[in-house]
Amino acid sequence: MPANKKLLVLPGDGIGPEVVREVRRVIDWLDRRRQVTFDVEEGLVGGAAIDALGHPCPDRTMEQALGADAILFGSVGGPKWDSLPFEGRPELGILRLRKELGLFANLRPAIVWSPLAQASSLKADLVDGLDLMIVRESTGGIYFGEPRGIETLPDGTRRGFDTETYSEEEIVRVARVAFELAAKRSGRLTSVEKANVMQSGRFWREIVTRTAAEFPSVQLSHMYADNCAMQLASRPKQFDVILASNLFGDLLSDLAAAVTGSLGMLPSATLGAPDSSGRRHALYEPIHGSAPDIAGKGIANPCAQILSFAMLLRWSFGMEEDARLIENAVEKVLSGGLRTADIMVPGAARVGTSIMGEAVVRELDKMAA
Ligand code: IPM
Ligand code: MG
Repeated sequence: MPANKKLLVLPGDGIGPEVVREVRRVIDWLDRRRQVTFDVEEGLVGGAAIDALGHPCPDRTMEQALGADAILFGSVGGPKWDSLPFEGRPELGILRLRKELGLFANLRPAIVWSPLAQASSLKADLVDGLDLMIVRESTGGIYFGEPRGIETLPDGTRRGFDTETYSEEEIVRVARVAFELAAKRSGRLTSVEKANVMQSGRFWREIVTRTAAEFPSVQLSHMYADNCAMQLASRPKQFDVILASNLFGDLLSDLAAAVTGSLGMLPSATLGAPDSSGRRHALYEPIHGSAPDIAGKGIANPCAQILSFAMLLRWSFGMEEDARLIENAVEKVLSGGLRTADIMVPGAARVGTSIMGEAVVRELDKMAA
């Protein structure tokens, strides 16, 4: 079968390369057992790209990204690059990719896998079966708004400032993604802002409310972001799909991830708009970040990266069956009692990154037999 699916793999920093390596096993398995061949290219991003080429997202990487059908991203950042000037930091690698590829819809599921309900900081019955999706706007808002800077005023005092700004078009397009998702799930969407104190929040609420008319099957509600944080930390199962700005979505998705008790299990997808032929840029990454404290020790949980690859199959290639297969394999490994350190419980068998990856492939073998 011809290799027609162009995949760009950007391992990045910290545990990124270790967990991406486990996905390569899954890619090889698909090739061998399901005759699905990918044309895989690797590229540099983050601190690794700074060290090799002096930029967190070099033009070469942007070219590769523009030519790829989907990007599998590891993670960026670490103490080694902490003292770099703001404009040269590894984090700018992911921000440039999001902005220049137009990846405006960041889908962050927070799922509690039944075998892991005990790992949550909340009581197991509050989170067991939790399955919510945060749709975070990811190319606008205060992350990119102008003006921004640090300046000295005429009286000699200094100030730092950023701008939260959202155009009508930016709100409508990400809201549509959230409504479409909600329509396919339980039909409930919670839109989050601070309409009580921010003009951009008032505008957000107005535009989302208007967009709701296009989706009569979805029940829209609004919630202030601070209240949403409180509700997520106390009664997370009331939510199905949450729509939020770039900054609020960043905060709430970390909180939702913590509530699941296993940051090392959560994938994400960041999607652009489809062009006239239906092709869209898309990037898939775990939520956990580069975890420099455990990098290189072979103990990181590869599941979030493997599950990000499952999302890639689903969203970029419509390979629902293969995506499910991988998700089921991960679930089987967990219920079989294998655990990496981050999701360890008494009585389970503690394993490292590569044993976990191998176990997933073994389950895939069994399921496909
Ligand atoms: C995330 C991260 C990034 C963000 C950083 C690494 C720039 O926290 O993807 O949530 O703030 O968007
Ligand atoms: Mg974040």
